[in-house]
Amino acid sequence: MGRLIVVSNRTPGRGPAAGGLAVALRKTLAERDGFWFGWSGRLVDAPSNEAAFEDIEGIRVGKIDLTRDDHHAYYAGFSNSILWPSFHLRLDLATIEGHWYEGYRRVNTLFAQALLPHIEENDVIWVHDYHLIPFATELRHLGVRNRIGFYLHIPFPTLDALYAIPHNTELMRDLSRYDLIGFQANRDVSAFAEFADHQSPSTLSGSPLKSVDFSRTEVAAFPIGSDPEAFAKLAVSPAATKMVRRMERALGDQSLILGVDRLDYSKGLPQRVEAYEKLLANNANLRRQVHLLQVAPPSRDSIKEYQETSDTLDAMVGRVMGHFAEPDWQPMTYVKRAYGQPSLAGLYRLAHVGLVTPLRDGMNLVAHEYVGSQDPDDPGVLVLSRFAGAAEIFEDALLVNPFDTDETAEALRLALDMPLDERRRRWERLMEAAMAHSVDRWAESYLARLTPNGPDGKPAP
Ligand code: G6P
Repeated sequence: MGRLIVVSNRTPGRGPAAGGLAVALRKTLAERDGFWFGWSGRLVDAPSNEAAFEDIEGIRVGKIDLTRDDHHAYYAGFSNSILWPSFHLRLDLATIEGHWYEGYRRVNTLFAQALLPHIEENDVIWVHDYHLIPFATELRHLGVRNRIGFYLHIPFPTLDALYAIPHNTELMRDLSRYDLIGFQANRDVSAFAEFADHQSPSTLSGSPLKSVDFSRTEVAAFPIGSDPEAFAKLAVSPAATKMVRRMERALGDQSLILGVDRLDYSKGLPQRVEAYEKLLANNANLRRQVHLLQVAPPSRDSIKEYQETSDTLDAMVGRVMGHFAEPDWQPMTYVKRAYGQPSLAGLYRLAHVGLVTPLRDGMNLVAHEYVGSQDPDDPGVLVLSRFAGAAEIFEDALLVNPFDTDETAEALRLALDMPLDERRRRWERLMEAAMAHSVDRWAESYLARLTPNGPDGKPAP
């Protein structure tokens, strides 16, 4: 079996987003003598296409530096001001500056040139996320014939949103250069199929669109997960217990509602605060009985739309506090800081309600981690957006439309009132689903499809 090369913008050791994936792939990379490849996190004056290798947390990582201008066009520009909002159906928040595309492609070219000397004949290359859609095309131009797979961690857009993206046909042609495209959810596979059908030559007469041939590309859903058993252990670890004790002291006998999200407009945080406001407004008996803790580490804060989301949230939290707080009671706590996994696991376990209400989300691993961290004897309730990929897996959560803040407020009330036997029943099924979709199984099933097994070079069935 060939080695495995994982490619992503963020490399292990650079923030919690790469963290979960790094843990999941560490074992596979070691078994297959592989390495990870991506951006170093460093900005330099002169472009270079040479990678430097080092060992990070038990993983061999090859990294490349980027110039400030390239990085801006590729990361803040094309990836996060065009692709991210469009794929999340927020064209109103997209900044369509076509010239960023050149930087986006240039970085993909540099990445490919830097990886090329390190590729061996039987290596299998697994590329992650929207920053690197053209990566396979760039490698193919350089003569690479290895199996190359792509995994999209975010949702695939609707046709209209896709067509609003500059160079969308070229990007879709880039996708067709992969041997396997993995999506989070069936919803994404359907959206992609709609695009692929629409593009088929038979429907194109008179259309300015050029067809993209996906006949050599396999497409399937591989929903990512977490390690629920590890979270179960972590949630009762000494580090978690320390956080739980602190929090218990602060809460007294109030029930905790918990949200944990990057500070991103896709996460529906203003709608969430509004739903909580309605809960308190409609149920005076709950005041002093509940507390919302929202943890929201800042993210991509060089981008205007992220700063505005942060400002909106500051104002909304101020409004809720001013309206409902009393000298000796505060309805919520808002923390703009990242916490380590042990502290989060403790908080998840303590929370009566895990409130996960993104407006649109590829999967949402907080939902998985919340389920994994629960006390089997006295589990909490997951309130989950039906627009998260996780909703396809967690049918026993209280599923809500996050845009409908009345519905979310009502789901919160139901969750807070839910009897123990129903909480247990729901949680047991949620935990089964989380285990069936663990991150280990995710990696295993994706790689089984991507990896050529037999002498004919065909992937495993
Ligand atoms: C999402 C994306 C990841 C990304 C992460 C954090 O989960 O799918 O590719 O790494 O957000 O965002 P950042 O821009 O900080 O890497």
